[in-house]
Amino acid sequence: MLKVGLLGAGRIAAVHAKAITAHPRTDLVAVSDVFTESAERLAARFGCSVRSTAEIIADPAIDAVLIATSTDTHSDLIEQATAAGKAVLCEKPVDLSLERARACQKAVVAAGQPVMIGFNRRFDPNFSAVKSALLNGEIGKAELLSITSFDPGPPPVAYIKVSGGLFRDMMIHDFDMANFIMGEPPVSVSATGSSIVDPEIGAAGDIDTAVVTMAYANGQIAVIMNSRRAVYGYDQRLEILGSEGLLQAQNMLENTMVKSTVAGVTAAKPTYFFLERYMSAYEAEWAAFVEAFEANATFPVTLADGVAALAMAEAASQSLKLGRPVKIEEVA
Ligand SMILES: NC(=O)c1ccc[n+]([C@@H]2O[C@H](COP(=O)([O-])OP(=O)(O)OC[C@H]3O[C@@H](n4cnc5c(N)ncnc54)[C@H](O)[C@@H]3O)[C@@H](O)[C@H]2O)c1
Repeated sequence: MLKVGLLGAGRIAAVHAKAITAHPRTDLVAVSDVFTESAERLAARFGCSVRSTAEIIADPAIDAVLIATSTDTHSDLIEQATAAGKAVLCEKPVDLSLERARACQKAVVAAGQPVMIGFNRRFDPNFSAVKSALLNGEIGKAELLSITSFDPGPPPVAYIKVSGGLFRDMMIHDFDMANFIMGEPPVSVSATGSSIVDPEIGAAGDIDTAVVTMAYANGQIAVIMNSRRAVYGYDQRLEILGSEGLLQAQNMLENTMVKSTVAGVTAAKPTYFFLERYMSAYEAEWAAFVEAFEANATFPVTLADGVAALAMAEAASQSLKLGRPVKIEEVA
């Protein structure tokens, strides 16, 4: 049994606790949170003990640590856990600062422990089917990728203020998805953004609507569209045009009924948000972590992948500010 310590007892920690306790070869030993009451609630629900973050990291009986704390703690906790000999699965993003994330990457190499970053969408069956078909050459050579990623509604402005902004908090998933599908990072990033959903988001210095265009070394192009509000639900689609065809991953709907009458043809809405859409992806992500740990193999999403996506977020932020495309090497 793989003994696991969970750091953080918030929204996403509960999702991970469910996956860890449902897995036949992993045991959730303990959870920590700076709010002890949150940790106690999660511990009671999933049957584990409550300890401090430091106690979990120092416990030699714990093999792996899952970091589901607030973003500004990630790099520090990755460094502490790997220095203590733990394998780590850490939620995205690696850090709010690219420089800090790169320093963390160096420290992890020195510690010699494996780290996986929680880009769960790679494990979504729809997106991984697209990736497999592309690798099998089913649409020839990839040429143009388009990713649509709209949330059902904006988070509270208090969250926006500490989130690191749309590119680091939300579009980071889509930057990683582009890297996953295209198999390499772009050369340059060009961003347009505005706050038309909620002026309060603009007043907080962030955007809620954005389009990013990315250019690749061999002429391929990718486009990412983000909005913090789609009134019909969580809109998560992608399509890739290749030299011999098109691959599309559509939304998961609340049900598959299609009603056709004289009034028209209607279908159900997309599933509400990430907990509904990606639950199977979180479970598959955990299973992939366990499998790689047991086989002593490289994790399917690495810390380098996390840093690469953060570099694209940084380039997009700079592009928005400067009003021109920004090369990835400019932020390197
Ligand atoms: N992959 C995904 O789909 C996904 C979805 C949501 C959130 N996230 C990421 O997960 C992280 C957590 O997000 P959330 O929505 O669960 O936030 P949250 O605020 O609900 O939970 C974070 C918890 O971490 C606790 N915490 C902070 N510092 C700590 C420390 N040093 N030790 C122990 N606990 C500590 C907080 O008290 C809080 O309870 C963020 O980095 C976010 O970007 C990822």
